[in-house]
Amino acid sequence: MGRVDGKVAFITGAARGQGRSHALRLAEEGADIIALDMCRPLTSARYNLASPLDLADTAREIRALGRRVAAFEADVRDDCALRKAFEAGVGEIGPVDIVIANAGVALFAVDEAYDAWQDTIDINLTGVFNTMEIVVPSMIDRGAGGSIVLTSSTAGLRGVLGPSRAALGYVASKHGVVGLMRSYANILAPHSIRVNSVHPSAVKTPMLTAASMTAFLEANPQISAGFTTPMPIDVLDSRDVSNAVLYLVSDEGRYVTGTTLPIDGGRTNKN
Ligand SMILES: NC(=O)c1ccc[n+]([C@@H]2O[C@H](COP(=O)([O-])OP(=O)(O)OC[C@H]3O[C@@H](n4cnc5c(N)ncnc54)[C@H](O)[C@@H]3O)[C@@H](O)[C@H]2O)c1
Repeated sequence: MGRVDGKVAFITGAARGQGRSHALRLAEEGADIIALDMCRPLTSARYNLASPLDLADTAREIRALGRRVAAFEADVRDDCALRKAFEAGVGEIGPVDIVIANAGVALFAVDEAYDAWQDTIDINLTGVFNTMEIVVPSMIDRGAGGSIVLTSSTAGLRGVLGPSRAALGYVASKHGVVGLMRSYANILAPHSIRVNSVHPSAVKTPMLTAASMTAFLEANPQISAGFTTPMPIDVLDSRDVSNAVLYLVSDEGRYVTGTTLPIDGGRTNKN
Protein backbone atom coordinates (compact mmCIF):
# COMPACT_ATOMS: atom_id res chain seq x y z
CA MET A 1 0.00 0.00 0.00
CA GLY A 2 1.53 3.33 -1.09
CA ARG A 3 1.40 6.47 1.03
CA VAL A 4 -0.67 8.31 -1.62
CA ASP A 5 -2.35 5.32 -3.26
CA GLY A 6 -5.05 6.24 -5.78
CA LYS A 7 -4.52 10.00 -5.37
CA VAL A 8 -4.10 12.36 -8.33
CA ALA A 9 -1.40 15.04 -8.17
CA PHE A 10 -1.09 18.14 -10.36
CA ILE A 11 2.54 19.32 -10.49
CA THR A 12 3.92 22.43 -12.23
CA GLY A 13 7.53 22.60 -13.41
CA ALA A 14 7.45 18.81 -13.67
CA ALA A 15 9.71 18.33 -16.69
CA ARG A 16 12.91 18.10 -14.68
CA GLY A 17 14.63 18.95 -11.39
CA GLN A 18 12.55 18.98 -8.22
CA GLY A 19 9.22 18.87 -10.08
CA ARG A 20 10.17 15.64 -11.84
CA SER A 21 11.48 14.22 -8.58
CA HIS A 22 8.20 15.04 -6.78
CA ALA A 23 6.23 13.40 -9.61
CA LEU A 24 8.30 10.21 -9.45
CA ARG A 25 8.32 10.03 -5.63
CA LEU A 26 4.52 10.40 -5.52
CA ALA A 27 4.11 7.89 -8.36
CA GLU A 28 6.30 5.42 -6.42
CA GLU A 29 3.78 5.79 -3.58
CA GLY A 30 0.75 5.15 -5.78
CA ALA A 31 -0.30 8.53 -7.20
CA ASP A 32 -1.26 9.30 -10.79
CA ILE A 33 0.18 12.53 -12.14
CA ILE A 34 -0.88 15.54 -14.19
CA ALA A 35 2.49 17.05 -15.15
CA LEU A 36 2.89 20.55 -16.55
CA ASP A 37 5.86 22.58 -17.72
CA MET A 38 6.47 25.56 -20.00
CA CYS A 39 9.14 23.71 -22.03
CA ARG A 40 10.14 26.89 -23.81
CA PRO A 41 13.11 29.26 -23.48
CA LEU A 42 12.80 32.51 -21.52
CA THR A 43 14.59 35.55 -22.95
CA SER A 44 15.70 36.88 -19.57
CA ALA A 45 17.13 33.51 -18.44
CA ARG A 46 20.86 32.93 -18.85
CA TYR A 47 20.26 29.18 -18.58
CA ASN A 48 18.05 26.76 -20.47
CA LEU A 49 14.67 25.92 -19.02
CA ALA A 50 13.26 22.44 -19.61
CA SER A 51 12.54 21.10 -23.10
CA PRO A 52 9.61 19.04 -24.43
CA LEU A 53 11.94 16.02 -24.34
CA ASP A 54 12.47 16.54 -20.60
CA LEU A 55 8.70 16.50 -20.04
CA ALA A 56 8.35 13.38 -22.18
CA ASP A 57 11.07 11.71 -20.07
CA THR A 58 9.18 12.54 -16.87
CA ALA A 59 6.03 10.99 -18.34
CA ARG A 60 7.92 7.90 -19.50
CA GLU A 61 9.45 7.38 -16.03
CA ILE A 62 6.04 7.71 -14.35
CA ARG A 63 4.56 5.12 -16.72
CA ALA A 64 7.52 2.82 -15.98
CA LEU A 65 6.41 2.92 -12.33
CA GLY A 66 3.00 1.63 -13.43
CA ARG A 67 1.16 4.91 -12.82
CA ARG A 68 -0.96 7.00 -15.19
CA VAL A 69 0.22 10.39 -16.40
CA ALA A 70 -1.00 13.24 -18.57
CA ALA A 71 1.63 15.81 -19.52
CA PHE A 72 1.01 19.34 -20.81
CA GLU A 73 3.11 22.20 -22.08
CA ALA A 74 1.80 25.45 -20.59
CA ASP A 75 3.19 28.58 -19.00
CA VAL A 76 2.02 29.31 -15.44
CA ARG A 77 1.88 33.02 -16.37
CA ASP A 78 -0.82 32.26 -18.95
CA ASP A 79 -3.93 31.54 -16.89
CA CYS A 80 -6.01 30.51 -19.94
CA ALA A 81 -3.44 27.94 -21.10
CA LEU A 82 -2.94 26.77 -17.52
CA ARG A 83 -6.70 26.27 -17.02
CA LYS A 84 -7.03 24.41 -20.33
CA ALA A 85 -4.18 22.07 -19.39
CA PHE A 86 -5.53 21.51 -15.88
CA GLU A 87 -9.03 20.72 -17.13
CA ALA A 88 -7.71 18.39 -19.83
CA GLY A 89 -5.59 16.63 -17.21
CA VAL A 90 -8.53 16.21 -14.85
CA GLY A 91 -10.62 14.91 -17.77
CA GLU A 92 -7.98 12.30 -18.56
CA ILE A 93 -6.67 11.28 -15.13
CA GLY A 94 -9.38 12.39 -12.68
CA PRO A 95 -9.98 15.12 -10.07
CA VAL A 96 -6.93 16.23 -8.10
CA ASP A 97 -6.22 15.54 -4.45
CA ILE A 98 -2.72 17.01 -4.44
CA VAL A 99 -1.25 20.15 -6.01
CA ILE A 100 2.43 21.07 -6.05
CA ALA A 101 3.07 24.61 -7.34
CA ASN A 102 6.77 24.17 -8.03
CA ALA A 103 7.51 25.94 -11.36
CA GLY A 104 10.03 28.72 -10.88
CA VAL A 105 13.06 30.53 -12.21
CA ALA A 106 16.24 31.99 -10.70
CA LEU A 107 17.40 34.62 -13.15
CA PHE A 108 20.38 36.01 -11.25
CA ALA A 109 23.48 36.08 -13.45
CA VAL A 110 26.53 38.28 -13.89
CA ASP A 111 24.87 39.90 -16.94
CA GLU A 112 21.23 39.58 -15.86
CA ALA A 113 18.52 41.01 -18.13
CA TYR A 114 16.58 44.14 -17.16
CA ASP A 115 13.37 42.07 -17.35
CA ALA A 116 14.65 39.70 -14.68
CA TRP A 117 12.72 41.36 -11.82
CA GLN A 118 9.38 41.29 -13.66
CA ASP A 119 9.79 37.81 -15.13
CA THR A 120 10.71 36.45 -11.70
CA ILE A 121 7.65 38.00 -10.04
CA ASP A 122 5.41 36.91 -12.93
CA ILE A 123 6.54 33.27 -12.83
CA ASN A 124 7.45 32.64 -9.19
CA LEU A 125 4.61 34.59 -7.58
CA THR A 126 1.81 35.29 -10.09
CA GLY A 127 2.34 31.80 -11.55
CA VAL A 128 1.66 30.28 -8.12
CA PHE A 129 -1.37 32.56 -7.66
CA ASN A 130 -2.70 31.51 -11.11
CA THR A 131 -2.22 27.87 -10.20
CA MET A 132 -4.14 28.32 -6.95
CA GLU A 133 -6.98 30.23 -8.58
CA ILE A 134 -7.42 27.45 -11.13
CA VAL A 135 -7.16 24.40 -8.86
CA VAL A 136 -8.96 25.59 -5.73
CA PRO A 137 -12.60 25.93 -6.99
CA SER A 138 -12.68 22.37 -8.33
CA MET A 139 -11.18 21.02 -5.09
CA ILE A 140 -13.78 22.88 -3.02
CA ASP A 141 -16.65 21.77 -5.29
CA ARG A 142 -15.57 18.17 -5.06
CA GLY A 143 -15.66 18.29 -1.26
CA ALA A 144 -12.96 15.66 -0.76
CA GLY A 145 -10.34 17.87 0.88
CA GLY A 146 -6.78 17.78 -0.38
CA SER A 147 -3.26 19.02 0.14
CA ILE A 148 -1.36 21.78 -1.65
CA VAL A 149 2.36 22.48 -1.40
CA LEU A 150 3.88 25.73 -2.67
CA THR A 151 7.60 25.73 -3.44
CA SER A 152 9.35 28.67 -1.82
CA SER A 153 13.03 28.68 -0.75
CA THR A 154 15.22 29.58 2.19
CA ALA A 155 15.19 32.90 0.29
CA GLY A 156 11.48 33.04 1.18
CA LEU A 157 12.38 33.29 4.86
CA ARG A 158 15.53 35.44 4.81
CA GLY A 159 16.79 38.53 2.98
CA VAL A 160 19.63 36.77 1.18
CA LEU A 161 21.06 36.90 -2.36
CA GLY A 162 22.09 40.56 -2.58
CA PRO A 163 21.03 43.66 -4.49
CA SER A 164 20.57 42.63 -8.15
CA ARG A 165 17.13 43.01 -9.78
CA ALA A 166 16.73 39.27 -10.27
CA ALA A 167 17.88 38.36 -6.77
CA LEU A 168 15.56 40.94 -5.17
CA GLY A 169 12.76 39.61 -7.37
CA TYR A 170 13.56 36.06 -6.27
CA VAL A 171 13.55 36.91 -2.55
CA ALA A 172 10.39 39.02 -2.91
CA SER A 173 8.58 36.34 -4.93
CA LYS A 174 9.52 33.55 -2.53
CA HIS A 175 8.39 35.65 0.47
CA GLY A 176 5.18 36.39 -1.47
CA VAL A 177 4.55 32.66 -1.84
CA VAL A 178 4.51 32.45 1.98
CA GLY A 179 1.80 35.14 2.08
CA LEU A 180 -0.27 33.20 -0.42
CA MET A 181 0.26 29.97 1.50
CA ARG A 182 -0.80 31.52 4.82
CA SER A 183 -3.92 33.16 3.36
CA TYR A 184 -5.06 30.11 1.39
CA ALA A 185 -4.40 27.85 4.40
CA ASN A 186 -6.91 29.93 6.41
CA ILE A 187 -9.40 30.20 3.55
CA LEU A 188 -9.30 26.49 2.73
CA ALA A 189 -9.08 24.90 6.19
CA PRO A 190 -12.92 24.63 6.53
CA HIS A 191 -12.84 22.58 3.31
CA SER A 192 -10.16 20.24 4.74
CA ILE A 193 -7.74 21.45 2.08
CA ARG A 194 -4.30 21.94 3.60
CA VAL A 195 -1.73 24.39 2.24
CA ASN A 196 1.96 24.47 3.23
CA SER A 197 5.19 25.78 1.74
CA VAL A 198 8.58 24.10 1.44
CA HIS A 199 11.82 26.03 1.76
CA PRO A 200 14.81 24.18 0.34
CA SER A 201 18.38 25.44 0.53
CA ALA A 202 20.57 24.80 -2.54
CA VAL A 203 19.32 21.76 -4.48
CA LYS A 204 21.33 20.06 -7.20
CA THR A 205 19.14 20.76 -10.24
CA PRO A 206 19.85 22.38 -13.63
CA MET A 207 18.84 25.76 -12.10
CA LEU A 208 21.73 25.55 -9.62
CA THR A 209 24.35 23.83 -11.77
CA ALA A 210 23.88 26.23 -14.75
CA ALA A 211 27.09 27.98 -15.83
CA SER A 212 25.38 31.37 -15.37
CA MET A 213 24.60 30.54 -11.72
CA THR A 214 28.13 29.29 -11.05
CA ALA A 215 29.57 32.49 -12.54
CA PHE A 216 27.16 34.63 -10.47
CA LEU A 217 28.13 32.86 -7.25
CA GLU A 218 31.86 33.07 -8.06
CA ALA A 219 31.50 36.81 -8.68
CA ASN A 220 29.61 37.23 -5.37
CA PRO A 221 31.48 35.19 -2.73
CA GLN A 222 29.59 36.85 0.14
CA ILE A 223 26.37 35.46 -1.35
CA SER A 224 27.75 31.96 -1.96
CA ALA A 225 29.10 31.95 1.62
CA GLY A 226 25.46 32.36 2.70
CA PHE A 227 24.68 29.00 1.07
CA THR A 228 26.66 27.11 3.73
CA THR A 229 24.63 25.05 6.17
CA PRO A 230 25.35 24.19 9.83
CA MET A 231 24.98 20.51 8.96
CA PRO A 232 27.97 19.22 6.97
CA ILE A 233 26.18 19.00 3.62
CA ASP A 234 27.02 20.56 0.27
CA VAL A 235 23.77 20.61 -1.68
CA LEU A 236 20.49 18.75 -1.29
CA ASP A 237 19.28 16.09 -3.64
CA SER A 238 15.82 16.73 -5.14
CA ARG A 239 14.62 13.57 -3.42
CA ASP A 240 15.29 15.17 -0.02
CA VAL A 241 12.71 17.81 -0.89
CA SER A 242 10.36 15.22 -2.44
CA ASN A 243 10.31 13.22 0.78
CA ALA A 244 9.25 16.35 2.71
CA VAL A 245 6.56 17.07 0.09
CA LEU A 246 5.37 13.46 0.32
CA TYR A 247 4.95 13.79 4.08
CA LEU A 248 2.93 17.00 3.66
CA VAL A 249 0.59 15.57 1.00
CA SER A 250 0.10 12.15 2.58
CA ASP A 251 -2.24 11.32 5.46
CA GLU A 252 0.77 11.45 7.78
CA GLY A 253 0.50 15.24 7.53
CA ARG A 254 -3.29 15.30 7.81
CA TYR A 255 -3.47 18.07 10.42
CA VAL A 256 -0.48 20.07 9.16
CA THR A 257 -1.48 23.30 7.43
CA GLY A 258 -0.23 26.88 7.24
CA THR A 259 3.40 25.89 7.89
CA THR A 260 6.72 26.87 6.33
CA LEU A 261 8.91 23.75 6.24
CA PRO A 262 12.64 24.37 5.71
CA ILE A 263 14.62 21.52 4.17
CA ASP A 264 17.96 23.19 4.65
CA GLY A 265 20.38 21.43 6.99
CA GLY A 266 19.72 24.12 9.61
CA ARG A 267 20.43 27.09 7.29
CA THR A 268 17.35 29.14 8.22
CA ASN A 269 18.04 28.75 11.93
CA LYS A 270 21.63 30.00 11.53
CA ASN A 271 22.49 33.65 12.28
N1 LIG B 1 17.64 24.51 -7.10
C1 LIG B 1 17.67 25.19 -5.97
O1 LIG B 1 18.75 25.40 -5.38
C2 LIG B 1 16.40 25.70 -5.36
C3 LIG B 1 16.41 26.06 -3.99
C4 LIG B 1 15.23 26.52 -3.40
C5 LIG B 1 14.06 26.61 -4.15
N2 LIG B 1 14.09 26.28 -5.48
C6 LIG B 1 12.81 26.36 -6.21
O2 LIG B 1 12.44 25.03 -6.58
C7 LIG B 1 11.57 25.07 -7.72
C8 LIG B 1 12.04 24.05 -8.74
O3 LIG B 1 13.30 24.46 -9.27
P1 LIG B 1 14.45 23.42 -9.66
O4 LIG B 1 15.54 23.60 -8.68
O5 LIG B 1 13.87 22.08 -9.89
O6 LIG B 1 14.94 24.10 -11.05
P2 LIG B 1 14.72 23.66 -12.58
O7 LIG B 1 15.10 24.83 -13.38
O8 LIG B 1 15.40 22.36 -12.84
O9 LIG B 1 13.15 23.37 -12.65
C9 LIG B 1 12.19 24.41 -12.77
C10 LIG B 1 11.15 23.95 -13.78
O10 LIG B 1 10.15 24.98 -13.88
C11 LIG B 1 9.84 25.14 -15.27
N3 LIG B 1 9.30 26.49 -15.49
C12 LIG B 1 9.97 27.66 -15.42
N4 LIG B 1 9.16 28.69 -15.74
C13 LIG B 1 7.95 28.15 -16.01
C14 LIG B 1 6.69 28.70 -16.39
N5 LIG B 1 6.54 30.01 -16.59
N6 LIG B 1 5.64 27.86 -16.56
C15 LIG B 1 5.78 26.51 -16.38
N7 LIG B 1 6.96 25.93 -16.05
C16 LIG B 1 8.03 26.74 -15.85
C17 LIG B 1 11.17 24.92 -15.97
O11 LIG B 1 11.02 24.64 -17.35
C18 LIG B 1 11.74 23.77 -15.17
O12 LIG B 1 11.35 22.51 -15.68
C19 LIG B 1 11.60 26.52 -8.21
O13 LIG B 1 10.43 27.19 -7.76
C20 LIG B 1 12.83 27.10 -7.53
O14 LIG B 1 12.74 28.49 -7.37
C21 LIG B 1 15.22 25.82 -6.09
